[in-house]
Amino acid sequence: MKTGNNRRKSARWTLAALALALAGAAQAGRIPFDDGWEFALKDFWIQYGKVGLTTPQNNSNDNGIPRVRADGDGWRAVTLPHDWALSLPYSNQGSRNGLRAIGHAHPENNIGWYRKTFAVSADAATERTYIQFDGVYRDAQFWMNGVYLGRNDSGYSERRFDVTDILEYGSTNNFVCVRVDASKDEGWWYDGAGIYRHVWLIRKHARHILPGSVFGYAADVSAEKARLKLAVRASESDGEMRWTLQGPDGASVATARAAVGADGSCAAEMEVKFPHLWSPDSPSLYTLVAEYSTDGKATDTERTTLGIRSVMFDPDRGLILNGKRVQVRGVCCHQDHAGVGVAVPDAIQDYRIRRLKEIGVNAYRTSHNPPTPELLDACDRHGLLVMDETRFFSSTEEGLSQFRRLIVRDRNHPCVIAWSLGNEEHNVQDRDVGRRMAETMKRLQRRLDPSRVTTYGGNNGKNHSGVNEVVDVRGVNYIRLVGVDNGEFDKYHQDHPTTPVWGSEEASTLCTRGSDHFVGGKGRQILADTDTVANRPHGWSYSAEEWTTRAETRPWFAGAFAWTGFDYRGECHWPAVLNDFGILDLCGFPKNNAYYYQARWTDKDVLHIYPHPNALRTNFWVNTNCDSVELFVNGRSVGRQDRADGVYRLSFPVDFASGTVEARGLRNGREVRETLKTSGRAVQVKAVADRTVLAADGVDATVVNLTACDADGNEVYDASNRLYFDCEGAGRILGVGNGDPLDHDSDVREGVRDGGIWTRRFFNGKCQVVIQSASHSGCFTLSWRGDGLADGKAEIDVR
Ligand code: GAL
Repeated sequence: MKTGNNRRKSARWTLAALALALAGAAQAGRIPFDDGWEFALKDFWIQYGKVGLTTPQNNSNDNGIPRVRADGDGWRAVTLPHDWALSLPYSNQGSRNGLRAIGHAHPENNIGWYRKTFAVSADAATERTYIQFDGVYRDAQFWMNGVYLGRNDSGYSERRFDVTDILEYGSTNNFVCVRVDASKDEGWWYDGAGIYRHVWLIRKHARHILPGSVFGYAADVSAEKARLKLAVRASESDGEMRWTLQGPDGASVATARAAVGADGSCAAEMEVKFPHLWSPDSPSLYTLVAEYSTDGKATDTERTTLGIRSVMFDPDRGLILNGKRVQVRGVCCHQDHAGVGVAVPDAIQDYRIRRLKEIGVNAYRTSHNPPTPELLDACDRHGLLVMDETRFFSSTEEGLSQFRRLIVRDRNHPCVIAWSLGNEEHNVQDRDVGRRMAETMKRLQRRLDPSRVTTYGGNNGKNHSGVNEVVDVRGVNYIRLVGVDNGEFDKYHQDHPTTPVWGSEEASTLCTRGSDHFVGGKGRQILADTDTVANRPHGWSYSAEEWTTRAETRPWFAGAFAWTGFDYRGECHWPAVLNDFGILDLCGFPKNNAYYYQARWTDKDVLHIYPHPNALRTNFWVNTNCDSVELFVNGRSVGRQDRADGVYRLSFPVDFASGTVEARGLRNGREVRETLKTSGRAVQVKAVADRTVLAADGVDATVVNLTACDADGNEVYDASNRLYFDCEGAGRILGVGNGDPLDHDSDVREGVRDGGIWTRRFFNGKCQVVIQSASHSGCFTLSWRGDGLADGKAEIDVR
């Protein structure tokens, strides 16, 4: 890029599991189906109800679908993934859905329809076709060519339909439509609204491998060899399956074959010698090729990205991965990002995972719902261990259906190490009802995936009854609730010596990125970025320092997931529309705490001064893993401190008005320095694109991060200038963000996306633009002008 200006189970048990991952899922015949949709924010059922609309399931009478098709009003072109809640205004009468004008007080914004007309070739008549929706928020109903396909209550589970009988072959006039009702919240956070994940058309030979049926795990894994168990299901009751395993370098390393059984199922084993084991430090991936054939003629092939590793939870030693103890240094996350809401491009999933990895995070809890599949692909690639959670803790038919869809979809990802049955189900978690539901869910889990374990996010302190007595790994939401400081937590372990324990949620403190003061009354919408007692909103909160110190000194405790990795929309006090739980803000910009975790969790040299020197100070914090640090204020030493073991934050009392603050650290005899200067006025913008070359596929995306600088190029930590953006060439702006909890500016410019004016203020000197490539090559130029700022531009190659 060039910038234009300057720039549990009761007995001690072990489980050796190997996962084969469907990461990247280059499934044969899986065609992206995200383009060419139209969207209307209105309810056709209400509009046409008076003129003879019958039930949606009725195919022969007027089910209203011809009218949806003919209607010319209010439709506009959209490309999926799409989140309509993001373009709604904020409202303090809104639902918990990110305080957007949606929910009971805003019925006009609750129902949306999507439609698409598409061609199906004549030769497809001999094949089998499925349509798959990875995620629609929520209560979705689907029709193909006027025929009702079914519904999906869940806003987080995938839904796939076999539409072979329903398509019109040799026609350009096939018509699919979806009614989406986002009036209800599933969470207490931002759920979004619409078809916010990918849609796929899956075209298969009539004799094929059933979508989602490929599965593999290992009975044992060692440095010398791994025995893989393979299972798959064919559409037919005859023929043969052949598997080839390709190593990380693409070379074939093992093969297996088996005849397909009378029920279409087929199983085999293969041995891999000296496997490259998958781990957070070395996320080696294999590719499994499954080929289905009859009389030597192959009719279907599935390629599955996979990893080989063993996972065991030990009640005394915590998590054992490939034979070694690994401390879980995890984060819980919701799924929304700045500028794009829940419709997060695949490349931005990757960006988020890399930001977490950078600060030493090695685990991710998909709180509190099934994630977008591409998030797990990124966790496979970058080596994050995943606690994969279903939204609906229940053994009802619907609850089990959602849990089944989650497991079958995700069981091949090496990153997934545990299935979470749910979170904080207060009315049932401690009772026999909860125990029975958990037992039924666990039975299903073992049938679908014998290689992994169950867990649950319980905020019921030291209580061991109900769900907690069933799950294999006891998930503790907040060690403080168990009584870590009065010995109750250790007593829990002594009383349940065969139960592995991890912290399914920790921390829950609030810090606003870059802020040096508190704003707001009781609800406190802006908080100093300091993570002190004043930043604890709840009786269960602990600062980063407090929880890591207590957690990491107990070898039997497997580690924990901090609440949260990123700030997220909702769960805040109006007029705030974002909360501040993140270690990183909504854009992924680091807060002060990010450096604390990085110092504690990585081997990188970390030396970070807080706050910025535009603030009057009586105290500076230095997050560091240096052995000693000396702080200089305007060239004069204000003291040198040696860092004690287990301490990663030093505090220097100072008398500071303005000037230069410098920290000089010594780490293993080497000097590490950081210098910050009181800045002048913001007059220019420094832009850094996460990636400077994008694929010309209309899907690839990157963030461009903008920082306010003074005339000398110093960062202006408190700048709030307004910026206006324009774009030209091979791409488009998807959205803008800055992480400010109190900013009610729009993230998107729906309807005027490519021609309209995009604007956002800096928040504490930073803001972010999310851009997406066009499907043709060329140059993409993002230009900006701003109050008191030199014009500038950034260029991205699209190839
Ligand atoms: C937990 C809950 C999370 C979040 C957090 C805030 O109890 O599981 O979803 O609400 O509290 O501290």
